[in-house]
Amino acid sequence: MRTVGPTDPALFDNPTAAATFRAFGDFDYASVFDFGCGCGRIARQMMQQECPPARYLGIDLHADAVVWCQQNLIHPSFSFCHLDVRNVQFNPHASACTLPFPAEDNAFTLAVAVSVFTHVLEPHVDFFLGECSRLLRPGGTLLSSWFTFDKALYPMMQAFQNALYINAGDPTNAVIYDREFIFDLFARSGLGIVAVFPPSIRGFQWMIVAEKGAPHRLGSLPEDDAPMGLARGPL
Ligand SMILES: C[S@@+](CC[C@H](N)C(=O)[O-])C[C@H]1O[C@@H](n2cnc3c(N)ncnc32)[C@H](O)[C@@H]1O
Repeated sequence: MRTVGPTDPALFDNPTAAATFRAFGDFDYASVFDFGCGCGRIARQMMQQECPPARYLGIDLHADAVVWCQQNLIHPSFSFCHLDVRNVQFNPHASACTLPFPAEDNAFTLAVAVSVFTHVLEPHVDFFLGECSRLLRPGGTLLSSWFTFDKALYPMMQAFQNALYINAGDPTNAVIYDREFIFDLFARSGLGIVAVFPPSIRGFQWMIVAEKGAPHRLGSLPEDDAPMGLARGPL
């Protein structure tokens, strides 16, 4: 739990058996792909839903977390798979930076990537967002979260530079993307942004709901006028 974020057990639980992401829309949970499933926080909540997914596949580059999920989150419809891509902290010996997801095209009704693209470097983001899109059914939904900034405020950034990093030793620690770049990126991946949810603390994660094959319903992100605060991950 410490490797993926807050450790409050309530965040891993779903005592009312409600749809896990009801705050962000009325999604179809028939088949769920969880990119960056970590130690199964979302899987556990979905297992407790009144109507759990008929198919759930979680993947993560952190092998220990995946093995823990395989051994402890036992459900006939749920499976977890290691994606052997490099990460300085959690998978330092892998040779690949990107690998195709182990799932067929057009297979899932819902893909989730919560606090994952906030750790994906710019050279790899097109690939991984494209993979999320590939395995969604037409009309399927991607729910993902992003740190954002406005590149117009940083005149020294080149056209090909669209991300900011906060940790020189491990740039995946937090990756912050230009707001306009995010819209273009989703469009390139065949995903239309249909709803956005601003952070509750200014500068923290935006939730973006996108639909495969749809046009963008928004032209840009609204202003972030949330109250200032701290949302530091564990050291
Ligand atoms: C902050 S945790 C979030 C975990 C989970 N989504 C949740 O909300 O509880 C980010 C997870 O994404 C995984 N991750 C980051 N980049 C990845 C990649 N390129 N491929 C697979 N997993 C990745 C990390 O190993 C980590 O477990």
